[in-house]
Amino acid sequence: MIFDEFTANATARIKGKVSGVAPSNIALIKYWGKHGLQLPKNPSLSFTLTACRTKTTLAFRPIKTQEDSLSFNFFFEGRPKPDFHPKLEGYFQRIVPYVPFIREHHFEIQTENTFPHSSGIASSASAMAALSMCIMEMERKLSPEMTSDYFYKKASFLARLGSGSAARSIQGPVTRWGASSAYKHSTDLYAVPFDESLHAVFETYCDTILLVDKGSKKVSSTRGHQLMHGHPFANPRFAQAHRNIEQLKAAMQTGAMDDFITLVESEALTLHAMMMASNPYFILMHPNTLHVINHVWAYRKETQIPLCFTLDAGANVHLLYPDENKLAVKDFINTTLAGYCQNKQFIHDRVGVGAKSSIFV
Ligand code: DP6
Repeated sequence: MIFDEFTANATARIKGKVSGVAPSNIALIKYWGKHGLQLPKNPSLSFTLTACRTKTTLAFRPIKTQEDSLSFNFFFEGRPKPDFHPKLEGYFQRIVPYVPFIREHHFEIQTENTFPHSSGIASSASAMAALSMCIMEMERKLSPEMTSDYFYKKASFLARLGSGSAARSIQGPVTRWGASSAYKHSTDLYAVPFDESLHAVFETYCDTILLVDKGSKKVSSTRGHQLMHGHPFANPRFAQAHRNIEQLKAAMQTGAMDDFITLVESEALTLHAMMMASNPYFILMHPNTLHVINHVWAYRKETQIPLCFTLDAGANVHLLYPDENKLAVKDFINTTLAGYCQNKQFIHDRVGVGAKSSIFV
């Protein structure tokens, strides 16, 4: 089995505490459509963020080995959340073949997010990545000979089993996930950093998230992925994503901003086009999403500043721009775009290095 090299040694039963902090990420090439056990239908690529993140601590102690269910309690922002238990139980069951020592411990899981509740920002990526970092930190304690390459790949692998996009929240500043002929080392099993000589401009890229509609998503991503089964445009879309990730690779190496912008905006609109063309169909954009997009296009034309947008499966808009343009863009946001945000709220974020973890035993 893959990723069981060290688990064979990981039989000790220990008491202690681990903590993991993992950021959210924003996809430039979108993952939309999956099969099997959280395997993507096409490769995707994202900026790892910094400010929007989840912090999780996992206190553990040995128990008599459980045969069936796993033993844990879950707290969100200090309060018990039993309604999250079925999802977590499902996750633990999925990962137990790769980390069998979790059966021999009881866990107290405490988690909190830096971003506001129901901001429409997906928390599953940062949450599953933070939890996976904690579990890997525990495995490293049991098998200290583990290499850091193995640690990060397996953390991404475990995160993927919780939520596909979470695989891309382990490392930074840019990660890619999914087999692609454009990359020698690429796999559907975990994400890896884009280490094909990334142009310097992308190492400090900024992302301001405009909170256009903070309401909870009308369509969960799980439902959205399902709707790609039997979707009339699914196969052309998957083929397009394969082409786009290859073209984006070149743009991200050379810093060709026009190509970068065209690919990123086209991916965002295609994601929404897929939802509009599914059965049943959905419009997840809000009228203000379109107002913002039109302003971004006009601003870019007028100023030549390479500001562009992307969207996730909701109405919020991610504005992407180089660090050197941040003062001008922030001024544009304050004067022109803030009015399209709910309660004028937005979050200034930027690309970052990925998740961190530590252990106290
Ligand atoms: C639109 O990773 O949330 O954000 O694997 O079912 O948990 P599950 O889905 P999820 O899907 C993310 C969809 C997206 C695009 C992306 O992040 O690539």
